[in-house]
Amino acid sequence: MGMKTEILKLLRETDGYISGQQISDRFGVSRTAVWKVIRQLQDEGYRVEAVRNKGYHIVDSPDVMTKEELDSLMDTRWAGKNIVYYDATDSTNLRIKQLGDEGAPHGTLAVADRQTAGRGRRGRAWESPAGGSIYMSLLLRPKFRPDKASMLTLVAACSVAEGIMDCEDVNVQIKWPNDIIIEGRKLVGILTELSTQIDYINHVTVGIGINVNLQEFPDEIRNTATSLRIECGHTVRRAPIIAAVMKHMEKNYETFLQTEDLTGLMEKYSALLVNKDKDVRIIGAKEQYQAHALGITPTGELIVRRGDGTEETVYAGEVSVRGVYGYV
Ligand code: BTN
Repeated sequence: MGMKTEILKLLRETDGYISGQQISDRFGVSRTAVWKVIRQLQDEGYRVEAVRNKGYHIVDSPDVMTKEELDSLMDTRWAGKNIVYYDATDSTNLRIKQLGDEGAPHGTLAVADRQTAGRGRRGRAWESPAGGSIYMSLLLRPKFRPDKASMLTLVAACSVAEGIMDCEDVNVQIKWPNDIIIEGRKLVGILTELSTQIDYINHVTVGIGINVNLQEFPDEIRNTATSLRIECGHTVRRAPIIAAVMKHMEKNYETFLQTEDLTGLMEKYSALLVNKDKDVRIIGAKEQYQAHALGITPTGELIVRRGDGTEETVYAGEVSVRGVYGYV
């Protein structure tokens, strides 16, 4: 961790004031060097008060999203421990794929303030303006077979839902398999991409887009999208959400590895599943039909009951699911 990150942490952990002398003793640098770091933090948007004879005090933490801010909040062993931050990039998924090919470690996280070529599922674009959202992608290097990887997207959905609810007073739900919604509107999209050989995984990219402070959406999604700002009624800090999501992701991924399926996460996931016990429309390549969703299997398929009473499981990727009413 760099000195700036350490000083930021120290300021946050101190109730009241900490003197320039204390900070300079702690790091073995001059008080002028400390003052320069404080100035940099102020330039980045932190409100650090400097009071004569008392020292420094951090007033509140605005929505700063820098590598130092993220590093100082991250409380994990591997998930998000190696952060690559971009003010702007094409797509964090593309960055992570490249970093993965170049040998970056398991848990590497790419975060961007803006994407110029944000990607959604089914070849769609993901609008990615600056300042208002979280665009991040996590690199995983699992040792299991490629056919298990699709379950990771459900692990991620669970982790994102939990991370958001740790930070903000909202009730989010999961629309199977991995959209996160509030009151029927989409808040989060997840795009999981694999790099594989026939029988083993090179690496997995879990791309997560969270609408945080956006207040306007393009016409096509105006009626189906929402943001935390809209739902909470106040500006929301992005960095703590990223840290909280990584914390849950690390834990849930380790639970997943114990059985290499969702057995240990079923209860949590099911409690968050908005489709549970609801009528849904299953839209497959060949047919469309209405059914009643009962829950998921330990391998992440959706269990549905057709009108004639027969039950079957549907695979994510092969079908899409709509609520009979509206988006959900
Ligand atoms: C969806 O269509 O629901 C999935 C959207 C995924 C968007 C995220 S934003 C971060 C990462 N980088 C991308 O280009 N896409 C994902």
